[in-house]
Amino acid sequence: MTRLAIVSAMREELAAVLALMADAQQYTVAGREFAVGELHGHEVVVVLSRIGKVAAATTATVLLERFGVSHMLFTGLAGGLATQARVGDVVVATEFLQHDMDASPLFPTYEVPLYGFSNFKTDAALTAELELAAQSVLQRGLLDASTLHAFGMQQAQTHRGLVVSGDRFVASSAESRSLQNALPQALAVEMEGAAVAQVCHDYGVPFAAMRTISDRADDAAHADFLKFVTQVASRYSAAILAQLLRARG
Ligand code: ADE
Repeated sequence: MTRLAIVSAMREELAAVLALMADAQQYTVAGREFAVGELHGHEVVVVLSRIGKVAAATTATVLLERFGVSHMLFTGLAGGLATQARVGDVVVATEFLQHDMDASPLFPTYEVPLYGFSNFKTDAALTAELELAAQSVLQRGLLDASTLHAFGMQQAQTHRGLVVSGDRFVASSAESRSLQNALPQALAVEMEGAAVAQVCHDYGVPFAAMRTISDRADDAAHADFLKFVTQVASRYSAAILAQLLRARG
């Protein structure tokens, strides 16, 4: 029996998912509200991670310790770093790294002390399911031409690869360029994924994550953030989660 955690940093992103869970039981633990119920025939626990690595790690730990989740999925937004990660695209993470982890010279830059590595891989099977679901939804072309136009978007693409996390909203071209130079494999930047990946690694629980690119992590990165969440990202995540859960049977 699986019990899937669905985690996001922003309330607006989960609104469409929570609207489908009218009969969910609500629990408050550590100031977070957990909704336990059914979504498309599967037992799920839905919660906001809050923002930043520590907040996300706490949320993930409560999901594992108090709610006994067997799998964890994160859905959220990210700033695009690689040129191919354009606004409106979806990045499915294959691994996470903390771009602000640096215990050098004691440990190599980015390595998480005592783990012996810097990159935390997501679960291959769950990630493949998520990628398939994302591809199938994006191919269907969920958004109408006027929404695409309003956000300067083209037909959305799915990408897979490294996502980096840190306790900073990256909103300048200089910082974005310096991240790209230091970590040329990184597709996107956000503020929680690497923390959740590390907690799931510690507990041996499969983890997968998708991020819709909301901005290019540059000087224009704050523009229309909320509008983008409600009109684009929340629709993607609700449709992709539905597709993934239906495909699970
Ligand atoms: N989430 C969405 N956009 C982001 C950015 N530019 N930096 C960090 N996290 C983000």
